[in-house]
Amino acid sequence: MAPVTERTPPIQTKFPTMGTTIFTVMSALATEKGAVNLGQGFPDFECDPKLVDAVTEAMKKGLNQYPPMTGIAPLREAVASKVEALYGRKYDSASEITITAGATQAIITAVLAIVKPGDEVIVLEPCYDSYVPNIELAGGTVVRVPLTPGTFRPDFVKIAAALSPKTRAIMINSPHNPSGTVWTRAEMLQLQDLLAPTDVFVISDEVYEHMVFDGQLHQSAARFPGLAARSLIVSSFGKTYHVTGWKVGYVAAPAVLSAEFRKVHQFNVFTVNTPMQFGLASYMASPEPYLQLPAFYQRKRDLFREGLARTRFQLLPSEGTYFQCVEISKVSALKEDEFCKWLTSEIGVAAIPLSAFYGNGFDQRVVRFCFAKKDETLKAALERLAKL
Ligand SMILES: Cc1ncc(COP(=O)(O)O)c(C=O)c1O
Repeated sequence: MAPVTERTPPIQTKFPTMGTTIFTVMSALATEKGAVNLGQGFPDFECDPKLVDAVTEAMKKGLNQYPPMTGIAPLREAVASKVEALYGRKYDSASEITITAGATQAIITAVLAIVKPGDEVIVLEPCYDSYVPNIELAGGTVVRVPLTPGTFRPDFVKIAAALSPKTRAIMINSPHNPSGTVWTRAEMLQLQDLLAPTDVFVISDEVYEHMVFDGQLHQSAARFPGLAARSLIVSSFGKTYHVTGWKVGYVAAPAVLSAEFRKVHQFNVFTVNTPMQFGLASYMASPEPYLQLPAFYQRKRDLFREGLARTRFQLLPSEGTYFQCVEISKVSALKEDEFCKWLTSEIGVAAIPLSAFYGNGFDQRVVRFCFAKKDETLKAALERLAKL
């Protein structure tokens, strides 16, 4: 018998330029240096114990086997009721709401369901880091359109110029990570008008839908019939209920779009863990937790901004999300990513460079802090930042 040789065949990578994400790099550096980690976006406080109890109860009741492919009916119904109550559009819970393994799986599934090789997909930069690789995996061509530097508002002249007969979809995200910008009704109406004569789909990433401040309203695509009819709307229970590690989200889309979405969903994840779904369904019976979320995070935002106002950082508006961006020019001449490494190592606070959200690493001297943290964490960070 010939000796066995261990040989892993060479692989042609689908992502030749992909490295470790800045989020991983900064979190590792934060741990190494004992820095306060305001980099990666997740809460450092517990969720409501009632939610944990509801999930525990579901497990104890033996609700531990495969749920239906589209998600359990009570959770789909709770989502449909919430969307109707808040945004005035009635989605059929059976055919138009699908429970997903977080927003990340929802987004890639939506992309794979509608984008074919050769299709163009518009992304508005800076954007969440999964969008571009998702489009590439589907064989689509990424068309990058910058949000206006400085304000991060959508530039409809540039978006209009990017539309072509090959455009299959546009990905939008409000409230926006990383800038904290919230699209206005007028901006959503402009998008609706712009797309009206086209067959372009919208993937509307609304994971921060319940974090909008100063009395502003979240302008869900669901509020605009012309957009809703062409949109897959994505949200995340992880963000809303302080359980980012549970990875449960949903997609709301017209029945024909949901049907296509589900064809991919059933073969990339099939379904989402059962007890979490039952726990979330019973917890959603009360709207209070998500109705109180704007006030909860607005207070944290204000606490954090008050402290930052005493530094030489220039504060950008934070209209929604749990992110606060600052301009660093008066504090440092370093590039954004070098500055974040310096800030973590020397000052002891981790942040994320905005250049990480651009394909070409565009550096506008702006970094992002996450304020989804205990007050004492924010105060500890502010004490360190006070030197700047
Ligand atoms: C804009 C945006 N979309 C999607 C996600 C992913 O959400 P999930 O954790 O539910 O997959 C995030 C998480 O940070 C995000 O910021």
